[in-house]
Amino acid sequence: MSDEMKEALKLVIVGHVDHGKSTLVGRLFHDTGSLPPGKMEAIRAMSDRRGMPFEWAFLLDALQAERDQGITIDMTQIWFRTPRRDIVIIDAPGHKEFLKNMITGAAAAHAALLVIDAAEGLKEQSRRHAYLLHLLGLRQVAVVVNKMDLVGYDEARFRAVERAIRLYLEGIGTHPTFVIPISAREGHHLVTRTDAMAWYDGPTVVEALDHFEPVASAVDQPLRLPIQDVYKFEDRRILVGRVECGRVRVGDALLFSPLNKRARVASIEAWPAPLRDEAEAGEAVGFLLDEPLFVERGALASHVERPPIESDVFRARLFWLGQRPLTVGASYRIRIHTSETVVTVQSIERVIDTGDLSVSAADRVERHSVAEITLRSRAMLAFDAYEDSPLTGRFVIVDGDDIAGGGVISMEGYADQRKAVTTRASNVRRVEHRVSPQDRARRHGHEGAVLWFTGLSGAGKSTLAIELENRLFLKGYQVYVLDGDNLRFGLNADLAFSPEDRAENIRRAGEVAALFARAGFVVIAAFISPYRADRDRARQAAGSAFHEVYVKADLAVCERRDPKGLYRKARRGEILEFTGVTAPYEPPESPALVVDTSHEEVEHSIGVLLEYVTRSLALRASRPR
Ligand code: ADX
Repeated sequence: MSDEMKEALKLVIVGHVDHGKSTLVGRLFHDTGSLPPGKMEAIRAMSDRRGMPFEWAFLLDALQAERDQGITIDMTQIWFRTPRRDIVIIDAPGHKEFLKNMITGAAAAHAALLVIDAAEGLKEQSRRHAYLLHLLGLRQVAVVVNKMDLVGYDEARFRAVERAIRLYLEGIGTHPTFVIPISAREGHHLVTRTDAMAWYDGPTVVEALDHFEPVASAVDQPLRLPIQDVYKFEDRRILVGRVECGRVRVGDALLFSPLNKRARVASIEAWPAPLRDEAEAGEAVGFLLDEPLFVERGALASHVERPPIESDVFRARLFWLGQRPLTVGASYRIRIHTSETVVTVQSIERVIDTGDLSVSAADRVERHSVAEITLRSRAMLAFDAYEDSPLTGRFVIVDGDDIAGGGVISMEGYADQRKAVTTRASNVRRVEHRVSPQDRARRHGHEGAVLWFTGLSGAGKSTLAIELENRLFLKGYQVYVLDGDNLRFGLNADLAFSPEDRAENIRRAGEVAALFARAGFVVIAAFISPYRADRDRARQAAGSAFHEVYVKADLAVCERRDPKGLYRKARRGEILEFTGVTAPYEPPESPALVVDTSHEEVEHSIGVLLEYVTRSLALRASRPR
């Protein structure tokens, strides 16, 4: 087999249903000599018998009928042959499940043909399909402007349609590789060039297709092996799954996410073949580990050095198919590779009208709309960003047995939390104190605690923290402020403002605050701490001593105050990833206390805080003054 013949190009044909896709396919099969012998004659005879004029589309219908009935042996998809290779048509509109196939990845195409009627021009469906191609990251796109015979092969008409589609595609950041005027019915520019449109000097459809490549092999990517099943035979646990990308060898150290457990591959079996040394992308395998790990369906195996992302929150570009709109706060079941879990819609950033590409704010996403949303789950999930690994970076939303939507994952603005949840040290053991927390509290007259101030920059966290510290000190409290800016000169001097750095900033601050609290201090921690996951970890570190205080102020108010001139800089593009402007802020869901600095005077807020501290932390017997 020659190199070029190795892999077939998987093609998806999109566009409005009436724009001539069936004729195009029928004619492509015929003109490339890909029809089974006698097929053409049989269809002609059938049309004659029924007194109907012959239509190219009948060919496709016949081929599809055979495929659906499974008559054609060993052919699950229909394919034709170009000078360079086989081309498999994996899907096309008209199919009932077309949109679902596209978003579930059942139709993981390498390239697409977008068909547009020369007379009708761009339709809503043409735009929606074009948008879907873009959303799914398909970059090899050829546009064919069909039915040129109906517009007298007029170049001006072609150029007008070409301009419209180029404008649309460029609006979404896609560039069509080719735009080709054709007449599928007359066979112009499918395989051969004709005189009818001498003004056109680009490639034919087949030449364009031969220009495209099957996408780079998944074998060279980091290993991703989602666990599909676990079979128990006596004391052996055989893990079963499909290698989505990369390769796995006996002896490899594997990491199972999000469990964060490791073990080595003891043996690999690929049924019905016997034991083997390795398996690669596309193969289904069963394998044994060198030690018993409790791994279940939904775990994602990788190599230790190239792990997937771990997070309980991610952004998504969603294509919604549900009968009922998707809404903020609603929960849905989603599938990512083999894992299934419940997520809540935390926010809908924007809804995109695929017709005119206008963007709007909304709290719901209607059927057939595209939106950028943020999803949160209770448990940690393991996945990839779509751009890094399409097979483990996409998800579908299921409603019963039905697919209600699907999309692709982005981590823009959010951190991979793997580092924050991994313990690297081994062979360590805790030392117990002999001075108890009660002993310390009795001496100080109050409990140790963490008052965690979170809020936007400029909301007043530091101002309130410093004033509260002063007042509590005068009342005899052991109190200390940990301030975000201050810690960034020392302990956290190595950290900037990427999501990962903020996660680490808050992890360290949370641990230090918890230590202070255990030492009996009231710690006032003033950090933007924009991510819920990071604050949750700080809460875990301090346990019941943690009190979340939301220092609340509208973005507009903070921006007007702009005490450090940072908002102005951020708006000028001089500070990237600035909270509230170009980086997210996730407000607390149920804080112990809210101080609203947009509407309250400092003195009032301090009163509220003092009252809260006295009520929750002071010991009755030996209360500080
Ligand atoms: S956090 O997001 O990691 O919690 P932290 O509270 O430590 O932030 O530091 C925030 C302070 O850093 C702000 O008060 C502001 O003065 C400064 N800062 C500098 N760059 C940024 C940025 N990109 N986003 C937010 N704050 C920034």
